[in-house]
Amino acid sequence: MLDREKGEKLLHQHVITPHILKHSYAVESVMRALARRLEPESEDLWGLAGLLHDLDNDLVDWQSDMSLHGPKTVELLRNANLGNEEMYQAILAHNPATKVKPKAKFERALYAGDPITGFITAIALVYPSKQLKDVKVKSITKRMKEVRFAAGANREAMASIEMLDIPFPEFAELSLNAMREISEILGL
Ligand SMILES: [Fe+2]
Repeated sequence: MLDREKGEKLLHQHVITPHILKHSYAVESVMRALARRLEPESEDLWGLAGLLHDLDNDLVDWQSDMSLHGPKTVELLRNANLGNEEMYQAILAHNPATKVKPKAKFERALYAGDPITGFITAIALVYPSKQLKDVKVKSITKRMKEVRFAAGANREAMASIEMLDIPFPEFAELSLNAMREISEILGL
């Protein structure tokens, strides 16, 4: 049920967009780090949710109906007998268009952990080296206030980590370190 190898196979079967694949690994690493901080016994579960939360990205027609993103992933995971109800709920709640609100710790972690990966990636790309090792926590907190920078990054979702009693700078550092661990996969 929490078979990462099976999850990774499924990911590559359904997701072909290169940056979504990278994003999936990035969210996995951030979710594992958040679990270690908040609920260590759930590290594998939270990691798998991160890896697979966008599984339907290349399958649903976002343009016609945003709310299809999430439910389709849950259907695929149910059919593959992968994950559990808690994880399905977190995946539904990560997309505001499903109208499922994040409430549980796990749901809130994915809701905040999803956008921060793209945000940190955007910051890394500003540096001449385009590498995560050059990104500073301070630049992440500073860029949060610059609403025109990476305007698509959901600030409200990222800031909502504080509802889990993690100050934003700590979240930024934890996420940056998690992403650095897989910098080769991310190409950053
Ligand atoms: Fe995502």
